[in-house]
Amino acid sequence: MLSFWLVFLSLTSPTTAKGSPYVVSGCADTCGNVHVPYPFGINITSEISDPRCALNNSEFMFTCNSSYNPPQLFFGENMPIHNISVEEGTISVRIDAAYNCYNNTGLINNFRQSIGLGSGPFRFSDSRNKLTVVGCDTLALMEDEAQSFGSGCVSLCGTNMTLQGSCSGFGCCQTPIPQSLKTLNISLASPRNHSRVWQFNPCEYAFLADERTYNVSELQLSYKPFSPETKRFVTSDVVIEWVVREETCDAAQSSSNPNGFACGDNSNCLYSVNGQGYRCVCKDGFTGNPYLPQGCQDIDECKEPDKYKCDGTCKNTFGGYTCRCPLGMRGDGKVGCQGFRITTIAAFIGAIFSIMVIAFLIIIIYKRRRKEKNFLENGGMLLKHQRVRIFSEAELVKATKNFDASRLLGEGGFGYVYHGVLADDTQIAVKKSKDLDKTRLNQEFQHEIGIVLQVNHKNVVKIIGLCLETKVPLLVYEFISNGTLFHHIHHKKYQILAHWKNRLRIAAETALALDYLHSLADPPIIHGDVKSSNILLDDSYTAKVSDFGDSMLISPGQSDMATKIQGTFGYLDPEYLMTGNLTEKSDVYSFGVVLVELLTGEKPNSSERFGDKRNIIQYFLSSLENHDLHQIICFNVASESEMEEIGVCADLAKQCLRISGMDRPTMKEVAEELGRLRKLNQSSWKHSQNSQETKYLMAESSYSIENGTS
Ligand SMILES: *[C@@H]1O[C@H](CO)[C@@H](O)[C@H](O)[C@H]1NC(C)=O
Ligand SMILES: *[C@@H]1O[C@H](CO)[C@@H](O)[C@H](O)[C@H]1NC(C)=O
Ligand SMILES: *[C@@H]1O[C@H](CO)[C@@H](O)[C@H](O)[C@H]1NC(C)=O
Ligand SMILES: *[C@@H]1O[C@H](CO)[C@@H](O)[C@H](O)[C@H]1NC(C)=O
Ligand SMILES: *[C@@H]1O[C@H](CO)[C@@H](O)[C@H](O)[C@H]1NC(C)=O
Ligand SMILES: *[C@@H]1O[C@H](CO)[C@@H](O)[C@H](O)[C@H]1NC(C)=O
Ligand SMILES: *[C@@H]1O[C@H](CO)[C@@H](O)[C@H](O)[C@H]1NC(C)=O
Ligand SMILES: *[C@@H]1O[C@H](CO)[C@@H](O)[C@H](O)[C@H]1NC(C)=O
Ligand SMILES: *[C@@H]1O[C@H](CO)[C@@H](O)[C@H](O)[C@H]1NC(C)=O
Repeated sequence: MLSFWLVFLSLTSPTTAKGSPYVVSGCADTCGNVHVPYPFGINITSEISDPRCALNNSEFMFTCNSSYNPPQLFFGENMPIHNISVEEGTISVRIDAAYNCYNNTGLINNFRQSIGLGSGPFRFSDSRNKLTVVGCDTLALMEDEAQSFGSGCVSLCGTNMTLQGSCSGFGCCQTPIPQSLKTLNISLASPRNHSRVWQFNPCEYAFLADERTYNVSELQLSYKPFSPETKRFVTSDVVIEWVVREETCDAAQSSSNPNGFACGDNSNCLYSVNGQGYRCVCKDGFTGNPYLPQGCQDIDECKEPDKYKCDGTCKNTFGGYTCRCPLGMRGDGKVGCQGFRITTIAAFIGAIFSIMVIAFLIIIIYKRRRKEKNFLENGGMLLKHQRVRIFSEAELVKATKNFDASRLLGEGGFGYVYHGVLADDTQIAVKKSKDLDKTRLNQEFQHEIGIVLQVNHKNVVKIIGLCLETKVPLLVYEFISNGTLFHHIHHKKYQILAHWKNRLRIAAETALALDYLHSLADPPIIHGDVKSSNILLDDSYTAKVSDFGDSMLISPGQSDMATKIQGTFGYLDPEYLMTGNLTEKSDVYSFGVVLVELLTGEKPNSSERFGDKRNIIQYFLSSLENHDLHQIICFNVASESEMEEIGVCADLAKQCLRISGMDRPTMKEVAEELGRLRKLNQSSWKHSQNSQETKYLMAESSYSIENGTS
């Protein structure tokens, strides 16, 4: 801090050492309260003065009498100087008033003022000074020494009164003075020897003064001189105009004398008619004392913004300044710029940007919060402890290319299934349920998901994981590559299903899966939507029951189920349709329909059929009744023993399709029966491997044998 002030002082001190820029260096610049600029100098009474301090020792050197406190500067011998102005070319001095005082005996006291401005280039200012006279029986006269000019005024009044700002002959009068006046005598006279007015106007007085320096309203008829020494009635200034030399500018500038022209650099020469000579003024944009050798200095306008207006970027030039409007604004910077400030625009843009950033952060936080909330609501805490993978939403979005339509594997009442590929190339099927009833989601969902996660059977599609961040949880299953049984029956035309062996195997595997679901938990898991399109075939054509994830939400004994009949037309248990009560036996019925579908190759819910086959179940049952089974089976039968198996299987289907659930076998019984048939088939297959003839014995009864692989 201290060092800062030292630097500051050392930077500013050279100017103070140099002194005032208005005087010659080394010369005093003030006397008492009065500032004395060059070309004027001070002759201090107690000191020997330097003649360089004034332009002309005989004309511009004023005496500073230090006997006074404060010291007083004098013009001539008895005119105290109050102000010297280089800019205006004026000197203000104080001059005593002339007066006459009376009493009943007549004139008792008088003072005649006579003023001379000397030989110097000084004149009374005709524009500023006026002779002012106060009195009720008064005649004032003024004349110059040479008596080449004379003027005066008369002031009268009959009674005591106050002068109210007017000075036009009633108690007071005023008169101007001519140009170029250097001397003045002021005398007073009383036309009626003051005998009638002396009581309220004891003294009449007259003075020359600048009107601006006194107030007419304050002049009083009752004024008396305080004493013979102090003859002052009014405190007022006389303005004296001066020129530097009494010659024209042209004459001065063309002078052969190098010191002949008094004006320094960057100043203009100004001729005064009143002074009959010239003086100097700084040019616009410059300041200082034009009489000093260094002349006037450039003003740094940019450092004085109060005086020199600039709305934009200020730049000082020699003798002026430029002001460029800020970027994006038009106009004259010195007057005012139009348009929006670039900083304002930047601030505006900045504000908008900040708002956007904040909004973005809020959205991110909100999304994260929502994900966490969904996770907790969806039982994330509970599930975290299960051995199941928890997927993030982003992971699944990436795996399914944001659930692109091209990735859609299937769609149904439950929702949508998408094919996905995880980062480690694992293929997955993502099930995105349609909006579920939120109230069902919490405890119940958690409980049921808990059961589903325990499902582990080779003929049931495995659940790999879940995503709980979304509103409705996403279920992630293993991807089963070979599509649905429905597809193989109805579109692929028997490539794999050409042999009864495979149809039987798929039926047996499906039955095992359903039995497993029924016996896994208490209450049992009911699939609720058994159909060929929910039976998937993996790469080795092993059957995998899928889509129990939704169905298992339908728990048996739920009374409100009556209002929410779910399932697929054609596979639906008629008893469930009537009572609304979903049981394991409903799955048994649906499985019976799948068996019929496997045997006949007909869609149970097709609307394309006509006549007998319109209701495939009725058609199947009546064919069975009439022992016309071979008429309706859709594939190649290899042997008599196979036909027997088919008959048993058809009979099993018939049992499954009984109207009353009570009369249907359990899934366990169905699985066992199909298991028994498979064993039988496997052994008979080996047996009849070589007897090709038997296979063709039955060929004529087959429907179509397209693409047969025998
Ligand atoms: C200064 O004043 C003294 C008398 O007071 C006078 O003798 C002297 O000449 C003056 N000097 C100048 C330079 O006018
Ligand atoms: C100073 O003033 C006197 C009297 O007016 C004059 O004679 C003289 O030439 C002036 N000196 C200069 C240097 O102007
Ligand atoms: C200065 O003023 C005093 C007191 O008025 C006076 O006696 C003296 O003569 C003055 N000196 C000069 C040099 O005018
Ligand atoms: C001297 O006169 C100038 C110009 O009239 C004025 O600006 C300045 O204030 C005056 N100084 C004093 C001390 O009266
Ligand atoms: C008038 O003035 C004279 C001379 O000063 C004086 O002698 C006289 O007493 C004065 N008269 C009155 C009434 O004051
Ligand atoms: C003017 O005053 C001067 C000096 O006081 C004097 O010599 C001169 O005679 C006066 N002139 C008149 C007309 O009174
Ligand atoms: C002057 O006044 C006195 C009385 O006040 C009077 O007697 C006298 O006549 C007057 N003189 C003149 C010349 O007016
Ligand atoms: C004249 O009037 C002034 C102001 O009204 C007052 O101060 C003064 O005493 C009066 N003079 C006489 C003699 O009545
Ligand atoms: C002059 O004096 C009167 C009365 O004192 C006052 O009302 C007025 O404002 C003054 N005028 C100026 C210009 O000072």
